[in-house]
Amino acid sequence: MLTVERKLALRSAVNEWISETFPEHRWLLSHEAPIYDADAGAWDVVLTTKRNGVAAIPLGSLLIADDGSLLVTPSPEAVVQLLSASNEATHVKPECLPVLRDGCEFHCGDGIAAAAAMPDRSVDLLLTDPPYGISRRYTCENQVPRRLRSNGADFIMPRGYFGAWDEAIEPEAWTAVVLPKVAGWAVAFCAQAQIGIYCDLFSDHGFVAVGPMVWQKTNPVPFNHRYKPVNAWEAIVVGKRSGTPFGGEMVHNVFVHKSPSPQQRIHPTQKPLPLIAEFVRLFSEPGGLVLDPFAGSGTTVIAAQQQGRRSVGYEMDEVLFTSAAERVLRETARMPLS
Ligand SMILES: C[S@@+](CC[C@H](N)C(=O)[O-])C[C@H]1O[C@@H](n2cnc3c(N)ncnc32)[C@H](O)[C@@H]1O
Repeated sequence: MLTVERKLALRSAVNEWISETFPEHRWLLSHEAPIYDADAGAWDVVLTTKRNGVAAIPLGSLLIADDGSLLVTPSPEAVVQLLSASNEATHVKPECLPVLRDGCEFHCGDGIAAAAAMPDRSVDLLLTDPPYGISRRYTCENQVPRRLRSNGADFIMPRGYFGAWDEAIEPEAWTAVVLPKVAGWAVAFCAQAQIGIYCDLFSDHGFVAVGPMVWQKTNPVPFNHRYKPVNAWEAIVVGKRSGTPFGGEMVHNVFVHKSPSPQQRIHPTQKPLPLIAEFVRLFSEPGGLVLDPFAGSGTTVIAAQQQGRRSVGYEMDEVLFTSAAERVLRETARMPLS
């Protein structure tokens, strides 16, 4: 019988296999609910493309024993071949065509180089989330099971190493190019340990009202909860050019929002759309231009469109961009044109 416990165990087993076998493509892969194959005495799980607004395409099947051990898996080469063929069939743009839609631009490319070509003080709001460069492989990453259970709770141990896209990016280097382009507010996520560095950089570039803000997560990953308080917040540094208005609304600098669940995310550090939309609304005026040079899954571009602002975003990683562009097209298609 497919109990909730078993369903979770089977799902975790498939997700672990996907992550380990397809580190480059895992954001494009999904799978269907397990079906019991009485002849094989095991569970059949169909691997599919992610449903990015189009029907999922089957890519092969896994056979899994009751205890979650994998008995049969599809050939990785065949899956990758089918995946690229399906990308063409579903009009995912392998050549990374930009999304250009009524004041919203999302490009595959280097956001720092693109910002360098923009006129100084041409951006009303910089709202960005650069790679923190803090992800590291845990020394034990390949030895410990990623799924730990305690009191019936299902807990996925987070990966220490996110991938090449989180390679260190020097705060001094990117801010030197991007901050001069900003005429109004600048809002940047950063590692908790980088708050002081970013506050100093914003001040050095002539921003005022500089200070940290907090995104408090209501559903933090309970990583290491037995050994230390669970980390339930992320840091954001904010500042503005002197004279830039603020809506005048009384808000605290602690913003409480839920993290998108792994099922809702197409990017490992995807920020909640309602949080980013709140920042767009608070820190820019309707019609203003919002820049995100490190756009990831395109959350800022979508939030800007939702709030009636113009936007331009860049994502350098082609695989991430491909699924992000699909997301931007899908989400902004639902919105009235601004
Ligand atoms: C922390 S993530 C942003 C996640 C995003 N806030 C979201 O909600 O999905 C940072 C992204 O910046 C991208 N990136 C790093 N350097 C870049 C560059 N020079 N130009 C454009 N994108 C870059 C990385 O590939 C990564 O996807």
